[in-house]
Amino acid sequence: MVGIALAGLLLPAAGDAQMGYGGGPGMMGGPGMMGGPGMMGGSGVRRAFVMRHGVDAKYAAMASPLPPTAASIQAGRKLYEQNCAACHGPTGLGNGPAGANLNPPPANLVGVGRMPMITDGYLYWTIAEGGTQLGTAMPLFEGSLGDKQIWELVLFLRSL
Ligand code: HEC
Repeated sequence: MVGIALAGLLLPAAGDAQMGYGGGPGMMGGPGMMGGPGMMGGSGVRRAFVMRHGVDAKYAAMASPLPPTAASIQAGRKLYEQNCAACHGPTGLGNGPAGANLNPPPANLVGVGRMPMITDGYLYWTIAEGGTQLGTAMPLFEGSLGDKQIWELVLFLRSL
């Protein structure tokens, strides 16, 4: 738990420098500051939450049981098109029509899965519980998608 919280604190700073946010840690994660269409990738409000609270212990140590094969990524792509593209857009940029009026907006998911702080557990938690803990419009999928399907989505997100 502490390790995860620390990783949350330390790693994004490196990401920032790399990706040119330009701001110090103090600028990170204000609700609404990041994650909208056309802005830097990711959900600012979710990063801020994880920096404060870590990823729930139920998910933190998870590791994908599925290897990232072409077949599993393709299965994830199908699931994405059916369940996520309306908000996150056909290519993951966060610009789907159903998300146009949401605040915070759907995250730009491109590159998110390649950021060091974005663990398997973080992505699984995000898809399973959605915005439940954050009060955002990100739906929860644990009732409608199975374990395997959530992991296929995680593998697909990592390919974006
Ligand atoms: C109703 C619109 C909507 C749908 C449908 C939706 N999302 Fe989201 N999603 C959001 C919003 C809004 C956020 C930003 C707030 C948050 O993180 O909770 C978000 C955030 C995320 C994040 C967090 C990114 C980060 O940087 O932390 C991931 C990952 C994600 N969504 C994946 C998915 C996947 C996968 C699906 C489909 C299974 C999906 N979303 C369906 C609205 C949606």
